[in-house]
Amino acid sequence: MARLLSRILVSGGAGFIGSNFIRYLLGLPEFSGCVVNYDALTYAGNLENLADIDSIHGKTGSRRYTFIQGDICNRAYLESVFKEYDIDTVVHFAAESHVDRSILSPGSFIRTNVLGTYTLLDVARESWKGRDDVLFHHISTDEVFGSLDDSGHFTEATPYAPRSPYSASKASSDHLVRSYHHTYGMPTTLTNCSNNYGPYQFPEKLIPFMILNMLEGKPLPVYGDGKNIRDWLYVVDHNAAIWLVMNNGRKGESYNIGGDEELENIRILERLIELIAVKLDRDPATLHALITYVKDRPGHDRRYAIDSSKLKRELGWKPAISLVQGLTITVQWYLDNLEWCNHIRSGEYRTWLTRNYQNR
Ligand code: NAD
Ligand code: TYD
Repeated sequence: MARLLSRILVSGGAGFIGSNFIRYLLGLPEFSGCVVNYDALTYAGNLENLADIDSIHGKTGSRRYTFIQGDICNRAYLESVFKEYDIDTVVHFAAESHVDRSILSPGSFIRTNVLGTYTLLDVARESWKGRDDVLFHHISTDEVFGSLDDSGHFTEATPYAPRSPYSASKASSDHLVRSYHHTYGMPTTLTNCSNNYGPYQFPEKLIPFMILNMLEGKPLPVYGDGKNIRDWLYVVDHNAAIWLVMNNGRKGESYNIGGDEELENIRILERLIELIAVKLDRDPATLHALITYVKDRPGHDRRYAIDSSKLKRELGWKPAISLVQGLTITVQWYLDNLEWCNHIRSGEYRTWLTRNYQNR
């Protein structure tokens, strides 16, 4: 039976990639279904990311979008949501996602990423009762494969070798998803992507953190020698790949998604400096002077690089936005959305729900 993909529960839809995914999905002419955004609203959840979507597609609009504040560890609540909204698809973004936080405080990563993924999977299994017109799509990371030296790329066959509490918890969640496919026959797909960037990213991750610090004239802390390499993927390219895999990917399979844009951290910083200097008519030397080399992150993975040839060959995907284009769009987005940035900096974004949602 064909997948329905029509009543979709997006977990973690108030975060960076999840909110971009909901915007992408509801903008697709071929998608006429409904989206339930199920999110606990941790520090990383921000409903301002979807304020426009809520007014167009929420209660006062087309009613194709519903937000529900809930924890993926809350089994009883999830069961009621699956029942009430007759969920046929899960796209699982919800996670604790920041490596530095996982080093300081691993417990919440194990709770949400391992226990939460298990709970969501198990509620789906019980609700779907062996149906095959359903789908559980799991979002994961290339960090499960560990760290590379100067050469080579991660493929889907690379053995798992996670090295941080974050990547270990994500590796565990990937294994749980595969086990539900093999043991219970649950229709699943899984994607492992490289570092995303773009609009609405919480400014704790490298690119938005550095952009906001430059705007405020604050130091730009570079870990270690700044030569660690990440493979940068524009968030909309990522979401297009997810949707393609959900529609056409083989059940039980995983697909790597990478941007083919490997760069040392220090080079990323230099590109951001060039862009901001031009856009704000500032002296690049003043921005350069903000670069501060700091103590390295413990266990810092040296290099990530993704081989996405399976996705390209089987499903015809390729990234549409180059790193140069993506960084230009991203810097401009932060400059155009200073109020969004200020609300995060001041903590005001945490009260958006009370001000704008619960009263309706
Ligand atoms: P994010 O931190 O911006 O958002 C995470 C969202 O999950 C937040 O809205 C948060 O409120 C929600 N959440 C956290 N704990 C929850 C819980 N217990 N119950 C319900 N909701 C909860 O993360 P992101 O950058 O958008 O990443 C999304 C997914 O993509 C994650 O699974 C992450 O591991 C994966 N990923 C991210 C990147 C990246 O570069 N950002 C790269 C590879 C993979
Ligand atoms: P990050 O955005 O935290 O993503 P990840 O650790 O999941 O790859 O970091 C990207 C790279 O940037 C990583 O090598 C660590 C480095 N980094 C810094 O050098 N300084 C910073 O302040 C941050 C946040 C990251």
